[in-house]
Amino acid sequence: MKNTIVTTCGNSNKLAKKIAKKIKTKFSPLTISSFPDGDIYLKFNTPLKGKNLVIVQSFQPHSDMSLFDIIFAAETAKDLGARKVILVAPYLAYMRQDKRFNPGECISSRVMAKLLNKSINKIITIDPHIHRYKSLKDIFTIPAKNLTANGLIAQYIQKKIKDVVIIGPDWESYQWAEAISKQISVPCTVLKKTRFSSRKVRVKMIKAIPVKGKNVVIVDDIISTGHTITEAAKQARRKGAKSITAICVHGLFVEKAVEKLKKVGVSKVISTNTIEHKTNGIDVAELVIEELK
Ligand code: R5P
Repeated sequence: MKNTIVTTCGNSNKLAKKIAKKIKTKFSPLTISSFPDGDIYLKFNTPLKGKNLVIVQSFQPHSDMSLFDIIFAAETAKDLGARKVILVAPYLAYMRQDKRFNPGECISSRVMAKLLNKSINKIITIDPHIHRYKSLKDIFTIPAKNLTANGLIAQYIQKKIKDVVIIGPDWESYQWAEAISKQISVPCTVLKKTRFSSRKVRVKMIKAIPVKGKNVVIVDDIISTGHTITEAAKQARRKGAKSITAICVHGLFVEKAVEKLKKVGVSKVISTNTIEHKTNGIDVAELVIEELK
């Protein structure tokens, strides 16, 4: 792609490099550090005048700093004469706080979008957590493209696991679990989840499917603390699953989530590379490249 520079604020180095190579354009990572008092220092290492800048930056780790870095980078790019700033946020944070659950709470997704609307020209993201919003248009005024890794996850399951049933651990997960099960024609059920706190959930199987002797694949958009998948895995084990695999789009894996999953019998944990992690087994680069083209 002519007149385009690909950069990152540090979180998506591998993906950014790969995308730049495939679209045959220059990859120039930013220099970002902080002064002794914590103030941010940011520097572009290539001329930007008249260029389109693609910032590839996942919002994990450090969702707060990522948002800050992106805004500083985008504003600086425009100041240096960039024509357009496109943000590729493979994982977009803050989407789960999409309403005021308790009086006085910040609706973080709205604030995050408001800040980005002012600084960038377009956002491309993958499987954002859309629950109470109808689409990204509810919060973004700039063009906002929502890509999905469902096709890639379906291909992965079809290629690597036989005799599969799919479980979505909560109602929202139907967007991934049901869609994927339809693509590869395997049974699927979505559990009913009650969340008591960030670290305490309970799940219940409402629609029963045959689990005994099957290779169960639990599919969700996000694994954070791992409690949601842990509870779903316990159900699958109680119902006689032969093996349990957990697949997510965004592996946040906080508080030793992978270890927790292994303890309840999840034999394999697979994530896409929207967030760099050792469990990355599904590559989303092509999705982004197609959209950028
Ligand atoms: C929320 O509904 C998401 O889809 C995930 O189920 C949730 O973020 C997972 O969180 P955790 O791993 O902490 O249970």
